[in-house]
Amino acid sequence: MSITLPSEPEVSAPTASLEELMGLEREYLLQTYARYPLALHRGKGCYAYDTQGNRYLDLISGIGVNALGYAHPRITKVIRQQAGLLLHTSNLYYHEFQGRLAERLAKVSGLSRSFFCNSGTEAMEGALKMIRAHGNSLQAGKHEVVALDNSFHGRTFGSLSITGQPKYRSDFEPLLPGVRFVQRNDLAGLEAAVGEHTAGIVLEFIQGEGGILPISEQFARRARELADRHNALLVFDEIQCGVGRPGAYFAYQLLDPVLLPDIVIAAKPMACGIPLGVIVVNDKAAAAIKRGMHGSTYGGGPLACRVALEFFDILEELLPSINSVGGYFRMRLTELMREFPFIKEVRGQGLMIGVETDFPCKHLVLEGIKEGILFNVTHENVIRFLPPYILTEQDVDRAITALVRVLKIGPAE
Ligand SMILES: Cc1ncc(COP(=O)(O)O)c(C=O)c1O
Repeated sequence: MSITLPSEPEVSAPTASLEELMGLEREYLLQTYARYPLALHRGKGCYAYDTQGNRYLDLISGIGVNALGYAHPRITKVIRQQAGLLLHTSNLYYHEFQGRLAERLAKVSGLSRSFFCNSGTEAMEGALKMIRAHGNSLQAGKHEVVALDNSFHGRTFGSLSITGQPKYRSDFEPLLPGVRFVQRNDLAGLEAAVGEHTAGIVLEFIQGEGGILPISEQFARRARELADRHNALLVFDEIQCGVGRPGAYFAYQLLDPVLLPDIVIAAKPMACGIPLGVIVVNDKAAAAIKRGMHGSTYGGGPLACRVALEFFDILEELLPSINSVGGYFRMRLTELMREFPFIKEVRGQGLMIGVETDFPCKHLVLEGIKEGILFNVTHENVIRFLPPYILTEQDVDRAITALVRVLKIGPAE
């Protein structure tokens, strides 16, 4: 069937000034966010434009979401086409794209089945329910979860319960019981925490919010062994570190041989800004969930799934350049260590990169905005880059020139 597309939307002018927007939000929004004084209006490729028309090289892509940058022609086209056909069906009916996307995810992950939802934390909640159902199906009292200190898994109650950072948790306690925290890469600690009551082990392959910190291969493999020994599910949270960002479909595929989890959860980049989360599971984990035990009104709708299918087609071609441009970016950042000895380490994988400084560096984000680059700071002293996958070496050179000016500021007074 052919459909007629509406004509190109006009690039409309901004409708309000930054000051007006700030005033409205101050008065009417729940005051949870500490935003930077920047109102974005549109974007093209790796560049975002503010309401005054100033241009910014975006090295954070909406915290790892805008993987194909802004207004990617193929993504824009499928969104417009699908908007003219069908935006929502609920999960009462079939549509053309959910099964196909699940098939695609099975192929790229090495696992078998998917459940679609709308965000990262929702994927984590679903995975936690699967862990519970799996444990309960085996023996009474098998409901413990082992997670990592310094981890981040989202803001809902289950996700918070396994998030190993007091600053996110303390206002909301008591949280879920039965969670044991282990330090990243502490093999003895992991051995001690996992036992017959463990139903699941949850790991970020590379801690994102925690400061771009990878788990070691030995630690990941020991977690797999322990999960098998105690019949627990091994869950990788690849919401930030997965789906192309590490230069592979998933970070666990960087190990040789590949180390398969029982469940991997993903979200951020999958539908290029349309909310979409997923739980991808093997047959063992799938057996824990029966009809009616989990669901979502919006999850896996036709718009998000169709966009994600287009995204995966494009990603296949982009994976090599994610690796090479990511390597080039890390190399250029490492060179800066000579000029700026306060840089303690440059680390990361693919286009997930952290630069650790020996002083708190949050103030540098604002300096970056002044210099036309967008990034953020996590864990007080780690400059975090999660740029779009379409970044080029030329963009990196531009970023480095601006960053040098930013780093010259040094510590806050
Ligand atoms: C590793 C990880 N897990 C879970 C989440 C939560 O995802 P969302 O904000 O989409 O709920 C995030 C968000 O940054 C994340 O980085």
